[in-house]
Formats: sequence, C-alpha cells, structure tokens
Amino acid sequence: MPKLSIKDLDLAGKTVLIRVDFNVPLSRDGKEITSDKRIRASLPTIQYALEHSAGVVLASHLGRPKGKPNPAMSLKPVAARLSELLGRPVKMAPDSVGEEVLKLKPAPGEVLLLENLRFHPEEEANDPAFSRQLAAIADLYINDAFGSAHRAHASTVGVVAALPIAAAGLLMDKEIEWLTRATKTPEHPCVALLGGAKVSDKIEVIQNLIKVVDKLLIGGAMAYTFARAEGKPTGKSLVEEDKIELAKQLIHDHPDKLVFPVDHVVVREIKPGAAHEIVTDIAPDQIAVDIGPKTIEKYAQIIRSAKTVIWNGPMGIFEMPPFDQGTVALARAVAESGAISVVGGGDSEKAIKSAGVSDRITHVSTGGGASLEFLAGIELPGVAALTDRA
Ligand code: 3PG
Repeated sequence: MPKLSIKDLDLAGKTVLIRVDFNVPLSRDGKEITSDKRIRASLPTIQYALEHSAGVVLASHLGRPKGKPNPAMSLKPVAARLSELLGRPVKMAPDSVGEEVLKLKPAPGEVLLLENLRFHPEEEANDPAFSRQLAAIADLYINDAFGSAHRAHASTVGVVAALPIAAAGLLMDKEIEWLTRATKTPEHPCVALLGGAKVSDKIEVIQNLIKVVDKLLIGGAMAYTFARAEGKPTGKSLVEEDKIELAKQLIHDHPDKLVFPVDHVVVREIKPGAAHEIVTDIAPDQIAVDIGPKTIEKYAQIIRSAKTVIWNGPMGIFEMPPFDQGTVALARAVAESGAISVVGGGDSEKAIKSAGVSDRITHVSTGGGASLEFLAGIELPGVAALTDRA
C-alpha cells in the first residue's frame, strides 16, 4: 500500500480521529442493529489504537438524513453495540462538532463516538470549515471507512488538509490490499464472475476487468442484453435496449474472454412460488430468473480451474428462492476452487452465507458502492487523500 498505515504512526498519548463506516442496517424504529458486521470489521483498528495508548474519536455517517438531525438515524445504538464488542465504555457525543464535543476529548484508552456526521449538510458538501471543526479534537487522522471511500466528503477528504497525518486503518489496508492484488496483479488463471440486473451498472467494471482476467462469466439479468446482442431469443427477460450495441461491441472485442449462460430457469410471471422450468431457448412469453444447471456446471468448472476469482453480483433473482440456486451453487464453487477469492456486493455475500462457505472466501469487501468503483478502476477519493508513504 503506497499510503501510510496506522502501523507507521506513534500513537501514544495522541488523540486519533478514526473515520469508520458504521452505516449499519437498523430496525424501522432505529433502535436495533440488524447486522453489526461493519462495526466488527473496524474493531482491529480501534483496538490497535487503544492498545497503543491513543484516545479514540470515532466518526461515521448512518443512512441519508439529508443534512438534518434525525433520531431514527442516531448512532446511539452503535455506541451500545460497540461498547459490548470492545468490553469497555464508549461515550456518545451529542453532535459531531462544537464546544460540547471538544469537552469530551477522550484520554488515552478512552473511546468517544461522534453523532451522525450527515446531520450537518457540510459533511457531504466537503465544507473546509466543517472539516477543521472535525479535526479540532484530534492530533492524527485515520481512515478505516473503506465503505465510504468513494465519497469525497468532509470526513473522508476535507479533514485530511486540517491534520498533519492521514493514515489508513487496518480494515482500509486489508480492503485495498486484496482488491489491488485481485485486479492489478492476480495469479492466473483469473476469473471474474459478474451478475446483477443491468449492463449499465457494470459496464465500467466489465471494461476494466476484461483487461486483466482470463475469463469473465456473465450472469443475472444483464446476460439477456448480451443474449439479444448475439441475436438469441430473450422472451420477456429484462433487456436494456440502449445497451445492445455496446454489448455487441464487447462480444466483438473479447470473444475468447466473455462467457454467457447456456441454459436458463424461466417463469411466466415473477412471483414467489412461480412455476418454473429449465430451457436453452427462451420462449416469447418466458422470463429468465436464474442460470440453469448446465450453466452452473460450466461456470463452476471454469471457477475450479482459477487461481484468482473476483465476484460481484447475483446470477438470478436471488431474493426469491428457489431462484437463488445458481448464485448459491457458484458461491460453493468459488469456495471449493481454493483460489484467492475477492467478493463485493450484498447478494454475493448473502449467497456465501447461505452456502455456508464464508470462512473459505479470502476477502469479502465491506463496501458496496466503494468496491464496485474500485473494480471499475476508479480512484477512490478517500484513499487518494491519505498521506503517501514516501
Ligand atoms: C455504503 O453503505 O455503501 C456506504 O456507507 C456509503 O453510503 P452512501 O451510499 O449513503 O454514501
């Protein structure tokens, strides 16, 4: 990693402002955390800072409160959960900036969680005065919020100018390391498995990864825009008419790398429990909802021979079983391949859990939008802003 890491810093007696991504899913009333994965993911960084005698100030956004305080998006439940996980008190600040917050400056070994940054419109506006207010409590800045690294906000970019050093946290380091290895210097054969509904959402990812991978396996509804481009029948499956020419061009430019489904699970109506069948040619009144067994076998075989697998997006309508089967079967294939496997995107992660293979995946990214932008080869502003090692 060309950027400074928390491990490069002398933290003793210092107050560190750590930007974390505690944008966790909450119950409707905002009181219960329904997944604490993102909190757990930043524990190593927080513990590292505490063990090295720093006072820790944590800053995060939660949800999209549009620049106004909103009790349903308070970080209070996160403070309680974090305190349980750390086994020590976590003080909750009434705001993210201001005199009252400065009075709560933590002593070495203490933790303060600031209130939701996005209660202030200045956060998303990357306002320099707000960045300075945020920085006022700290000596050093650490960014561990990989999930927010694609946002150029006051707490991810602006704040860097207001403190002498900006280093990556341990989660940020790990995310960048695995994503970089998989996309820049992968062991070959390198296979990408891309799913999801729309070609338009993944076009930059396809264009970037096709340069480095040996095979790019396409699944999900976006396969049907490619099928149409090849002149195959797609029935009533989702096709992006305005992306057909682009799909044709990609097939023309990369005939040996792009791989498409050879059979499909189809329905006549998308609804839970819908009658379904497996076909190779989709009839005019049919809608494809998952990849078929021959495709699963074909893709699994390619994945099994890989040394690196990059995966983003489901192969079918994952949220409506049994149309999750293709995605779950390939999650198993990725785990069994023994390849370095780097996974991004909520549905791929759920499939890994359903298949019971989470511990056999090398790296599951905590960033949805951020990992997608990384795979697309876009420089993440939150990473670019960090202090260079040199
Ligand atoms: C995420 O959940 O992807 C990040 O926390 C960023 O959230 P945002 O899309 O609201 O900026």
